[in-house]
Amino acid sequence: MKIVVTGGAGFIGGNFIHYTLEKRPDYKIICLDSLTYAGNMETLASALENPAFRFERVDITDRAEVERVFEEEKPDIVVNFAAESHVDRSIGDPGVFVRTNVIGTQTLLEASRRRGVMRYHQVSTDEVYGDLPLDRPDMLFTEETPLRTSSPYSASKAGADLLALAYFRTYKLPVSVSRCSNNYGPYHFPEKLIPLTIVNALRDKPLPVYGKGENVRDWLYVADHCRAIDMIIHKGREGEVYNIGGRNEMRNIDIVRRIVRELGKSEELITYVGDRAGHDLRYGIDAGKMERELGWRSETPFEEGIKRTIRWYMENRGWWERILDGEYKKYYEKQYGNR
Ligand code: NAD
Ligand code: DAU
Repeated sequence: MKIVVTGGAGFIGGNFIHYTLEKRPDYKIICLDSLTYAGNMETLASALENPAFRFERVDITDRAEVERVFEEEKPDIVVNFAAESHVDRSIGDPGVFVRTNVIGTQTLLEASRRRGVMRYHQVSTDEVYGDLPLDRPDMLFTEETPLRTSSPYSASKAGADLLALAYFRTYKLPVSVSRCSNNYGPYHFPEKLIPLTIVNALRDKPLPVYGKGENVRDWLYVADHCRAIDMIIHKGREGEVYNIGGRNEMRNIDIVRRIVRELGKSEELITYVGDRAGHDLRYGIDAGKMERELGWRSETPFEEGIKRTIRWYMENRGWWERILDGEYKKYYEKQYGNR
């Protein structure tokens, strides 16, 4: 089997490549990634030593380049992780989100249709459902919940998600879509809440919490997400959407406090800053379809996953220190400078 993985130099795509190289040693993986600020070849260092892995620096909106790789490699499966993924950046600069997330997805769908792949998998997000009220813990997103997006990021992801489903209905392309909740774990870019809090706490820097810190997210350890996608591409039904979640809803402030405690730091580092525009209140996922149809279940308790994640950031300082010293520094100053 040959599998094209896009966005593999990023957080979840990188974890998925490591997971697949180990679980399916007879597969060949071809990673397409344009290496934006979020793409990091260090994440793929060990994969690059594996003859079953090939990296191509390709922008998924570049039709000619995507077609060239598909012609050369003739992939059986395509898994699209490549995206602009940070909500805050989408508020400042929405255009690139439409370009990569919508046009890039359509380019991959078209190449997959021409090639006649066995499966195209679109990595979507629970953010396409919008948000849920804080005072209704009984309400959860199911696959039937209408899409109702809030940010340019989630709107562009919904466009991609719907395009994938349109290619199934219109062209019979064997598509599947997964909508997952917030991931955490190794190789997570330190602009997102959990890695940002860990690296700032390790350096005794302020820990920015938006608004009152009462917004709720459902956190899933990244390896559990990778296992879910592996199951969907091999056993999931064509044309179907699968929700993936950790049954682990937590308030942001409780996440930050937990990390502070684990690291033995002072809560005085916690700094409340201005809220995110359009900030989604709560995400809550019903992953019952994954559990019933595919026998998937989140396996990593948060207590264990967060300890593992913190340890990874302590043991891999070079990976994130090189990010903090580079281009990201300018973004951080702009984002948090006068908030
Ligand atoms: P990330 O930002 O860490 O990585 C994105 C990767 O895509 C980077 O390597 C980047 O270089 C690459 N990329 C961006 N634009 C590209 C382009 N035009 N062409 C080729 N490559 C390009 O993102 P992530 O957090 O790993 O998320 C991966 C996917 O999972 C995204 O589609 C995201 O919407 C989805 N998702 C993320 C989460 C989460 O909690 N992080 C949860 C659910 C779904
Ligand atoms: O739910 C899935 C989504 O999860 C993915 O589709 C996105 O790609 C991914 O980035 C993530 O989106 P969020 O906006 O939920 O993640 P983020 O880590 O940016 O923020 C998590 C919560 O923490 C959110 O309520 C905003 C808050 N926050 C975030 C940052 C960066 C803070 O309070 N302070 C911060 O500095």
